Amino acid sequence: MRKPFTDQVALVTGAASGIGRATALAFANMGARVIVSDINPEGGKETLSLIEGLDGEAVFCQTDVSQLGEVKKLMEFCVSSYGRLDYGINNAGIGGAWGKIAEYPIEEYHQVMKVNLDGVFYCMQLEIQQMLKQEGGAIVNVASIAGLKGLANSGPYSASKHAVIGLSKSAALEYARKNIRINAVCPVYTRTPLFEKIFEVDASYEQKLLSLIPMKRYGTPEDIASAIIWLCSSQSDFVTGQAIALDGGLTAG
Ligand code: NAI
Repeated sequence: MRKPFTDQVALVTGAASGIGRATALAFANMGARVIVSDINPEGGKETLSLIEGLDGEAVFCQTDVSQLGEVKKLMEFCVSSYGRLDYGINNAGIGGAWGKIAEYPIEEYHQVMKVNLDGVFYCMQLEIQQMLKQEGGAIVNVASIAGLKGLANSGPYSASKHAVIGLSKSAALEYARKNIRINAVCPVYTRTPLFEKIFEVDASYEQKLLSLIPMKRYGTPEDIASAIIWLCSSQSDFVTGQAIALDGGLTAG
C-alpha cells in the first residue's frame, strides 16, 4: 500500500534526540524522505540508522541552527539531496539556565534566544522561500506550553517560545493564500534528555510537575510527533496559524 507521505520530503531540526528523533522516525514510517539535521553528529547518525532499520530513506546534515550560514547550507543540502522540501519541522531547542531574571546569566540569555528564536526564524525564512517556488508546503514549529504561559525560573526560554508562536501566527497570515500552512505545537513536560535535566537540579520535581498535569502522565516524544504529522497531513488542510497545546489538559484549567 502506498504510504501517505510517499515522494514527499521532510526536514527535522534537532532530530538527534527526543521529539525531533521521534518525528523523523514517524515521517520515515509514513514514506517521507527525511533530512535529519542536528548540531550533534553522533545522535544524528543514530537517528539515520534507526530510519534505515525501518527501510526508510534519510540523509544527515550537521547544522547549528543559530548560525545563518549553516542554515543556508542545510537548505541547499535539502534541495541538492531530494530536489524539494514539503515539510519543515523547526524543533531544535535548548532549555537554558534555571534562574530568576535578576540573576540570569546574560550569555545564557543570548544563547537561548539564538537557538530557540533566531534558529526558527532562519529556518522558516529559507523553508518558505523554497516552498514558494514549489507552490506549497507545511511548517510546524516546536514551541512549548511555556510559550502560552509564563514559566518561573525560565524567563528567557518562555520568552523565546512566546516569540516562536508570534512568528508562526504572523507567517501563517502572510502565506495563507500561498498553500503554505504554518502552525506551532506547545508540548507540556515530555520525557526527553532536555526535560530530564530538571530532575538533576532537584529530583523532587519529578512528582511535583506530574501532579500539575490533569492526565497524570508526562508526554512522550511520540505524542508530540503524532500531532506534528497530523499538522503536515491533508487531514489538517484547513488548520493554519494555530498554537496547539499538547499538554494532557494542563492549560485547560
Ligand atoms: P532534546 O534535548 O532531546 O533534543 C533537542 C535536540 O536539539 C538535540 O538533539 C540537540 O542536539 C539539538 N540542538 C540543540 N541546539 C542546537 C542547535 N544550535 N542547532 C541544531 N540542533 C540543536 O530535547 P527535546 O525535549 O526533544 O526538545 C525538542 C524541542 O521541544 C525543543 O525546542 C524544546 O524546547 C521543545 N519542548 C520540549 C519539552 C519537553 O518537556 N521535553 C516541552 C516543550 C517543548
